Amino acid sequence: MEKVFVIDHPLIKHKLSFIRDKNTGPKEFRELVEEVSLLMAYEVTRNLPLETTTIETPICSTETQVLSGKKVGIIPILRAGLGMVDGILRLIPAARVGHIGVYRDPKTLNPVEYYCKLPPDVTDREIIVVDPMLATGGSLCSAIEFLKARGCKSIKLMCLIAAPEGLQRVGQQHPDVEIYVAAIDEKLNEHAYIVPGLGDAGDRLFGTK
Ligand code: PRP
Ligand code: URA
Repeated sequence: MEKVFVIDHPLIKHKLSFIRDKNTGPKEFRELVEEVSLLMAYEVTRNLPLETTTIETPICSTETQVLSGKKVGIIPILRAGLGMVDGILRLIPAARVGHIGVYRDPKTLNPVEYYCKLPPDVTDREIIVVDPMLATGGSLCSAIEFLKARGCKSIKLMCLIAAPEGLQRVGQQHPDVEIYVAAIDEKLNEHAYIVPGLGDAGDRLFGTK
């Protein structure tokens, strides 16, 4: 899958081990998810356009580069995507944040949308959709369709852990979307949880189980 990028930096691998560990409590889990999101954002934004400007150093005038007009929009998928937002905002504080609420019906496994609030200029932004888990891919496919239907053209996905099944589904339905992950796991279990995975990301972030 040519649009899938695994960001397997040693720091990310190390932190992901603690995120996966069932003995890691919500406080540490949240901190680690934020740190890994910051590290991943560095790679996801590698191709942001630059423009040349002139500044004065204390020594002389010089040409240098700054990010050009194209702006970033971060779209967390509620709930668990919320845990990834602050890490990215620490790198790109001017980014705007839009929220899409999607949960996976535990019986049918189909995505159910329940909330949406996007920045007014979302169609002009480089969109990074964030969700720690890409399992069947249903939630993220539905969020991408939603964003495309509203005119978004440049969309990237950033997930901590993906299952091969989910990567294939998103890749087939949205071949234009680049997918950045920290790890590709083995498979889904009979409840469509990622194996070995990290369990339920929303519950672990917010301590709801
Ligand atoms: C989790 C996760 C994804 C989705 C992945 O959310 O954060 O959004 O499941 O599964 P899929 O790829 O099979 O669609 P969940 O439905 O548990 O909702 P929550 O974040 O509110 O807990
Ligand atoms: N959602 C989660 O939070 N974890 C999984 O493993 C699959 C879907």
